[in-house]
Amino acid sequence: MAHFPQHPGFTSVLRLVRLEGDIRDLEIEGEVPADLDGAFYRVHPDPQFPPRFADDQFFNGDGMVSMFRFKDGKVDFRQRYAQTDKWKVERAAGKALFGAYRNPLTDDDSVKGMARGTANTNVLVHAGKLFAMKEDSPCLIMDANTLETEGYTDFDGELPISAFTAHPKIDPGTGNFCGFGYSLAGPLTRECCYFEIDPTGKVVRKAEFLAPYYTMLHDFCIAGDYAVFNVSPWSSDMSVLEQNRPHFYYDRELPFYLGVMRRDGDGSDMRWFRQDPSICGCHVMNAFQDGTKILFDVPVSQTGSLPFFPEKDGRPFDPVAATTYLSRITVDLAANTDTIQSIERIGQAPGEFPRIDDRQCGQPYRHGWTITYDFDKPYSGPAGPFVGVINSLTHYDHQTGKEQSWWCGPDSAMQEPAFVPRGKGSAEGDGWLLALVDNHLTNYSDLCLFDALNVASGPVARIKLPVRLRQGLHGNWVSAAKLAA
Ligand SMILES: [Fe+2]
Repeated sequence: MAHFPQHPGFTSVLRLVRLEGDIRDLEIEGEVPADLDGAFYRVHPDPQFPPRFADDQFFNGDGMVSMFRFKDGKVDFRQRYAQTDKWKVERAAGKALFGAYRNPLTDDDSVKGMARGTANTNVLVHAGKLFAMKEDSPCLIMDANTLETEGYTDFDGELPISAFTAHPKIDPGTGNFCGFGYSLAGPLTRECCYFEIDPTGKVVRKAEFLAPYYTMLHDFCIAGDYAVFNVSPWSSDMSVLEQNRPHFYYDRELPFYLGVMRRDGDGSDMRWFRQDPSICGCHVMNAFQDGTKILFDVPVSQTGSLPFFPEKDGRPFDPVAATTYLSRITVDLAANTDTIQSIERIGQAPGEFPRIDDRQCGQPYRHGWTITYDFDKPYSGPAGPFVGVINSLTHYDHQTGKEQSWWCGPDSAMQEPAFVPRGKGSAEGDGWLLALVDNHLTNYSDLCLFDALNVASGPVARIKLPVRLRQGLHGNWVSAAKLAA
């Protein structure tokens, strides 16, 4: 009998789902456009077995991948575990063998040296396959239709890296998958790489660089000809692993950096622009070139925004200083300086999990969306991490400066949205937004479909699941045409 820890990371709103299955033709409230043809994939951490440590991070669980297939106004649902090497060896053993988040010192001796990946952070279709990604391990390949796992890949030997990003960007011009890896020389190391994989799955660009310090290099962005890396002062050291404390701490002594390098180079041109005292910025909305300048849009806070990664000096989590506001960071490649030129707040509603119309990735753009926090709204569901705060969806119009938001109600919480173009040639922002809304009182999740430029009106359709999905991380839409290719 499985006994999961009676800990906030595994109980109440974060209790596990562990459900694999198929539902044909989900119940729909409202109407799904008949010409919406494609699939929305997303993933959440869902431990197959009770963890070896009761206070383990909630995002150390095995990846559970969900697919919502849209066609002819109907939606089919499929959900499967990402069967990583870890998942398979633990399934055979009937128990957890891998230990704490990012801490190989806590693993059972029988799995020492194996990839620790859970494939639980992001899923995206590229080169005809579903890539299931976790930043500390290789890329896991799954069948995009059946969700059967094929296994880890090194891309025909071209990318034999131990860590493959969970936050790629697709260049809308070339269709290249742009990604990176970090901590490549082993735990706590600064070695990083940048790469691009073309739409056929061939690695076409590779570069190497050193991070300014060991950090959680979680996200990045392309900006025209450049790759841009945001380094926030999340770091770690060997004492953390030896004492099995949370893998990352927030070190206020370290500066924030924006690293800029040409995408077509070998990485030797990397320039690190510094901000001291530090700021914190995790998920990137978008970035672009404007002459010699790089503009980089990211929700920014004054201290560590992730309460599960504590301050290095032991001070308590400060929820006010940790609140993230969409900000524009500017650096000038023509300037004879290594400091960031400016950081300007461009969003009023605090939030995280920014998204765009991905056809504008790395290019000047107008529209963005995030999950936002409306602190004035009530919450009457059960207590737990995240809920009561991640309660709204906001559209930012960077051209007019206007924002509009939709509140998900007193019993519910939001998951990350994804944009769906209305059609192949439709204008930027013209389309739909998909976002899961989890009702923690009824224990059901609805996949909500919004008119992307009119989110304040609320969902035009609710695609209703008879279960609640666990708080997830990231996901993406793929058109039927790309799915077939
Ligand atoms: Fe992320």
